[in-house]
Amino acid sequence: MAVHEILKMGDPRLLRVAQPVLAFDTDALHLLVSDLLDTMHAASGAGLAAPQIGVDLQVVIFGTDSVNPRYPDAPPVPRTVLVNPVITALGLKDGAVPLQVEDWEGCLSVPGLRAKVPRFERIRYAGFDQFGDPIERTVDGFHARVVQHECDHLIGLLYPMRVRDFSHFGFTSVLFPGLDAPQDD
Ligand code: NI
Repeated sequence: MAVHEILKMGDPRLLRVAQPVLAFDTDALHLLVSDLLDTMHAASGAGLAAPQIGVDLQVVIFGTDSVNPRYPDAPPVPRTVLVNPVITALGLKDGAVPLQVEDWEGCLSVPGLRAKVPRFERIRYAGFDQFGDPIERTVDGFHARVVQHECDHLIGLLYPMRVRDFSHFGFTSVLFPGLDAPQDD
């Protein structure tokens, strides 16, 4: 168990397409998950992807059981370890075109900044936990946003690469002066 350095935007390791995990319930995978959890908790993050600690594997963790100081208005998201994820955008009703909505995001690899980022409002995601047990959920809103943000890290995308309107991109301390967030969020 260890808190790792979180790579920052500009590091080429954040731009790789991550490799799938081929073996579950291994010591190496459990150690990676443990390190991701320790690192996310130390940074008060809502999620973390393996590439952010320099590990080139399709593993993300996310979740907020209680109020997160970086996202005080966000509804709770179940603590989840998600390996080899696949995301499908869904319409709000069967047969409807998937809707994208913009809302604020930050990233531990892009400290001190926030932007409004378009994401699908409703998705299905599938994958496995670290033991190889399947996970499949249909979610919307903040939960859907967090999953899309974390899974983007597995295909070399950081949220600024998704921003369409740069008039909604700035420093957290300026945009949200009352937010009780660490300076380096
Ligand atoms: Ni991120």
